[in-house]
Amino acid sequence: MQSNGILDEIKNRIDIVELISDYIPLKRAGQNYKGLCPFHTEKTPSFMVSPQKQIFHCFGCGTGGDIFGFVMKYESLSFREALHLLAKKAGVRLRSQDSAGRKDTETIRAMQKEALGFFMETLARSETAKAYLKRRGIAETIQKDFSIGYAPAGWHNLYNRLKAKGFEDPLILQAGLCSAGGKGIYDIFRARIMFPIFNLHSDVIAFGGRVMDNTQPKYLNSPDTVLFKKGDNLYALYNAKEEIRKKDFVIVVEGYLDAIMCHQHGIRNAVAPLGTSLTEGQLKKLRRFTNNVLLVFDGDEAGVAAAKRSLALIFEHGLKAKILLLPEGEDPDSILREKGAEHMKRLISQASSPVDFLLKSSSAPMEDTINEAIAIIAKVNDPILTGELVIELSDRTRRNERDIREKLNTYKKTGTITGNKPKTMLYNEEILLLSAAIQAPEKTEEILSRVPIEDIKDNVVREVFKRLSSLEDKTVHALLTASETEEERALISRLSLNPGFDLSNLDKNIDDCIKKITMKRVEERIKTAELAGDLKLLTSLLSKRQRLLQEAGWTSLTDRRIP
Ligand code: UTP
Ligand code: MN
Repeated sequence: MQSNGILDEIKNRIDIVELISDYIPLKRAGQNYKGLCPFHTEKTPSFMVSPQKQIFHCFGCGTGGDIFGFVMKYESLSFREALHLLAKKAGVRLRSQDSAGRKDTETIRAMQKEALGFFMETLARSETAKAYLKRRGIAETIQKDFSIGYAPAGWHNLYNRLKAKGFEDPLILQAGLCSAGGKGIYDIFRARIMFPIFNLHSDVIAFGGRVMDNTQPKYLNSPDTVLFKKGDNLYALYNAKEEIRKKDFVIVVEGYLDAIMCHQHGIRNAVAPLGTSLTEGQLKKLRRFTNNVLLVFDGDEAGVAAAKRSLALIFEHGLKAKILLLPEGEDPDSILREKGAEHMKRLISQASSPVDFLLKSSSAPMEDTINEAIAIIAKVNDPILTGELVIELSDRTRRNERDIREKLNTYKKTGTITGNKPKTMLYNEEILLLSAAIQAPEKTEEILSRVPIEDIKDNVVREVFKRLSSLEDKTVHALLTASETEEERALISRLSLNPGFDLSNLDKNIDDCIKKITMKRVEERIKTAELAGDLKLLTSLLSKRQRLLQEAGWTSLTDRRIP
């Protein structure tokens, strides 16, 4: 990794307005510059460049970021390649990773391996952990294939082991296995079933750990390290890669256990993302093995929304997709256990085409559904695939193919179906809260002390919050540099240029958002407690809700509004 010093140096030497002007014409518009977006076709400019903030954002298609993001996207480069290009432009010399850095990486790799051995030994000795795996129906052969382990309860088991093996504190911390706090350095994973994550060379590079009861968070994942980037790796890909090649498609399921159970039942081309929705980096990894992705999601509202996002991303990266929506509340693990492998295989073979999925999963009026499908089809670059999708959409909806094509062209040109200005942007309380943190980064800690980060539902918002809290330098600059996906960069640049709330009301905005989020979580827990019949918990939650309502001066739930 290059140190941030180099990145700052490059950013200081290259002005974003000048850089982008080399690619497209920009015109001054108030404090900012405007131009026609190079990333989607449009007639009126919605592409903004801010010289103060040194960022760009297109309010038509949502793309945004800093100088690195711009050249990565425009020239289709990896971050590393963009860095080289811009370093050259800036006249900054890059150091190649020094041998000390390489040595540290090897030490961290050795530590992951040591940890894996430790977790597997501990599992062999823990009757409760073995009983849990048995209860979940995970066969012993599969436990071995996936090197499943167990992290014992207690704060220092792994730490002591690593110390005994001669590893030193600074690297132990960098390996993402231990954390430093009031109690000194302690194990991050305690009393959890451990699922190691392997890279394509069969090195263990990170872990996911599951509790055996209902404590939260259910799964804990290793933080990103020099060895591991969550958004670039998939669970079980190492085990699945040959089968993916052979079958020429990959099955992407939601959870660790879903992937494991698929493999156990002979469905060996299954993989899972690592606690986020599918990312660009993961698709690039998958593309080495196949161009066909079969997405499996829970058929509930959240599942459908996630499937749509993944579908758009898959199209954007030139891959093909099929979608399998399971009955609400089911996942591959539950289906396999209840109905068996043959049933699951049949469902897989009957997965929907993208058009079929978009039509079936929508309860909106037909015109809206068609428009939504068009917006997703617009992500496809390949004219042949576009043609196929348009024909299928027209056949299935009995709408004139020419009309659909026309709408599609309008959408590609303007970013809207009607050709009018972009749709109003969605600012829910999570996004508003993040927006406040981006405007006033010194509030981040206070915000996160009131809203636990796991309580943030939106994956992208949660990722950006995590990054904000881990960064010492919390400027938009540093945030964009640290962010890993286009989605994150787009959100950051958008909120930076267009916060969505009145800045003079910062504290009130924060307070309102937090109250609203807290209330929603309490309501969710009330529902769970009701279902579980836990009267004691229910009573305490209900009084908590009452208290929150009074504090907020809300008389009823429908009164809640964010100004
Ligand atoms: P689910 O909550 O659907 O869990 O999370 P699951 O996979 O069905 O797990 P079981 O069956 O209860 O054991 C799906 C995936 O989301 C990530 C994990 O990768 C999980 O497998 N996740 C979930 C987290 O990273 N953290 C969490 O707290 C929860
Ligand atoms: Mn499950």
